Amino acid sequence: MEAVTPGEVSVQDEAVDKSTFKECNQIAFYRRQKLLHPGKSLYHALLDSVTLSDENVKFPIIHEENKVLLQVEICEIEGSIFRLKIDEADPLRERYKVPDVLIKEPITRRLIISQKEAGILVLSNVNEDYKLQVTANPFQIELQSKAETVLSMNSNGLLYFEHLQPPPSDRKHTEENKDESSCDSSKEKQEDLGLWQEKFGRFLDIKAHGPSSVGVDFTLHGFEHVYGLPQHAEALLLKNTSDGDAYRLYNLDIFGHKIHDKIGIYGSVPLLLAHKPNRSSGIFWLNSSETLVDINTKAVAEHIPSGSAAETTKQRAVPVTDVRWMSESGIIDVFLLTGPTAFDIFKQFAHLTGTQALPPLFSLGYHQCRWNYEDEHDVKAVDAGFDQHDIPYDVIWLDIEHTDGKRYFTWDKKKFRNPRKMQEHLRKRKRKLVVIVDPHIKVDPTYTLYSQAKDKGYFVKDRNGQDFEGICWPGSSCYLDFTNPEVRKWYADQFAFKTYKGSTNILFVWNDMNEPSVFKGAELTMPKDAVHYNNWEHREVHNLYGFYQQMATAEGLIRRSSGKERPFVLTRSFFAGSQKYGAVWTGDNTAEWHYLKISIPMLLTISMAGISFCGADVGGFIGDPEPELLVRWYQAGAYQPFFRGHSNMESKRREPWLFGEKNTQIIREAIRERYVLLPYLYTLFYRAHTAAEPVMRPLWIEFPGKIETFGVDNEYMLGNALLVHPVTEPEAKAVNVLLPGSEEVSIMKLFSPRRFGMISENLNEWKIQAL
Ligand code: GLC
Repeated sequence: MEAVTPGEVSVQDEAVDKSTFKECNQIAFYRRQKLLHPGKSLYHALLDSVTLSDENVKFPIIHEENKVLLQVEICEIEGSIFRLKIDEADPLRERYKVPDVLIKEPITRRLIISQKEAGILVLSNVNEDYKLQVTANPFQIELQSKAETVLSMNSNGLLYFEHLQPPPSDRKHTEENKDESSCDSSKEKQEDLGLWQEKFGRFLDIKAHGPSSVGVDFTLHGFEHVYGLPQHAEALLLKNTSDGDAYRLYNLDIFGHKIHDKIGIYGSVPLLLAHKPNRSSGIFWLNSSETLVDINTKAVAEHIPSGSAAETTKQRAVPVTDVRWMSESGIIDVFLLTGPTAFDIFKQFAHLTGTQALPPLFSLGYHQCRWNYEDEHDVKAVDAGFDQHDIPYDVIWLDIEHTDGKRYFTWDKKKFRNPRKMQEHLRKRKRKLVVIVDPHIKVDPTYTLYSQAKDKGYFVKDRNGQDFEGICWPGSSCYLDFTNPEVRKWYADQFAFKTYKGSTNILFVWNDMNEPSVFKGAELTMPKDAVHYNNWEHREVHNLYGFYQQMATAEGLIRRSSGKERPFVLTRSFFAGSQKYGAVWTGDNTAEWHYLKISIPMLLTISMAGISFCGADVGGFIGDPEPELLVRWYQAGAYQPFFRGHSNMESKRREPWLFGEKNTQIIREAIRERYVLLPYLYTLFYRAHTAAEPVMRPLWIEFPGKIETFGVDNEYMLGNALLVHPVTEPEAKAVNVLLPGSEEVSIMKLFSPRRFGMISENLNEWKIQAL
């Protein structure tokens, strides 16, 4: 490892243990929400005050005890999407509403009040294929399709809404008689509930605006298979959560994260999909603050109506899944995606958040990355290595060490003396270069980017109004406030060829550390009480930070070509809608077999959430893969949407030709297979871009009626014509492949039979020799 210059941070400083991160029970708003147990909701709808307009239906609801009025707004958006919003009717100050994620203000359709009687309001859409039944007391909403109840909201009574209050110091002392001791105990109680401040280890989060958590439950009727909620290093099917083990959506930089863990890593998309043989449904919870999701699938008894009155009623067990969403702040803004097929849901979600940007063709080829390719000579040698070994590749990558002391948009003066010449060299070979550009900016008044941003007030502020300073790769750093549109424009301008010295049009960009990563911060990220544009606290926008950086970067690349060329931007952190700006990868995985295996469900989950252009570091970022693992990883990666080999600074070099002739040959073949597939992949991306069809899809999406496919996550479909079952076990001689569908279809879907030997056949389960 190279020496670290003063002020910079070495990689060892970054090694973390699990206690750096919170368990759910250490999150105050989670503890507060968990005090509310399933039961009868204390909210009543005041249906006498219902108003109907072309855009929506509105009515107030009231909490029996605190008497605070909330406003419910329901609308139908074209494409069979229902939107439910719940906000305070008269908030003390405006609550955060996520901007910039929806591609436009959705076009609404007029709802019809088809029934209004004591305590019940029934709304129908124009086609009358869906109905929303609102029950006043307790307040509940049911979504019905013909005779089928698809889902219901608040049927477990878990609607939770903390209204904004003045700080305790501003309140009048109404209860004068309270004695000292009771004050103390209530103070202590408040502390534990983290209403106005919250401690985690040595970190203190001061909540200037007090508690503002929101949440509600949904019951999905007849569904026992639920998916989505990236990103977690978890299986495809969402698991039942127990107390303290909810799926966490909070973008965090967890180096060497564990697998089979529900903690949030790097990116999040609050989209959940549910599937049963005749229907798929989706719930999109538009909230960018920290969010926790509880899942509980169970069987309930349902009465089967019998033919004659004399017969005794029969019962059958039907599955239901309860989903409880809990967010730290914002409002409740939830979209019900009615499907009824999975492809309809993908379209509905894309209608709201956009489709996958069409990648430039080169970016679907193979990418060679490492932390770091040392200097110009190294870059040229690796580039030549691919030609010498007759291995196709398109892009070579430069990590943080290529810069002048981790000052992004600059070059190390000794190692990269002539970056333009180096790019001309690569250009002649029709290759591209990707360089890293992180969001933290080294505190250094002589660094133009820093001094400009400082003068213009473009950094995120701390709670005292000073520029927030945290530690990241360059040492002391400030963080650009990408939530400010002016900052995004200024940032995009930094990519202009004349501003970004040494850049050419074969240079593309990699955004990393944008959760954002703050090495010495609570949970290695930015304090929630940091302050952004328009005075919003970081807690409101946390999960959007990386989304905005990638948005600004993609805009910069488009602008530098005067709108003529498609950008390529890879990001580590993401949110709903990130698909519009480029690709994502799963971050710092480890060179172990389990990480190869888990990459499949992780990528499938990201793909179902709209982000088709995704991949995992081939070989595993941390550590040194044994040659067999590396070879298997190349074979798997060749059939994943984003295909990049990458390794950590401390890992041994692992260019594909370093593991003996036999392994080089197998890797060469795998990468060549990728190139044979390019026209197919490019077509799939075109379909993703134009019709929101995921490139990589779980089997159940192509075989929605085949229950045996619903939980499969060791194989998948690439488009609708190619079934992929990577080998993810050491010393495998054969793999069992499930071939769903009729036999003819199955056999036709077996791609490239010369690479597989059929050993035996057992109904639809084939044993295939692993070559
Ligand atoms: C982070 C990234 C990794 C990168 C490293 C140095 O750990 O996830 O891919 O190589 O930072 O920039």
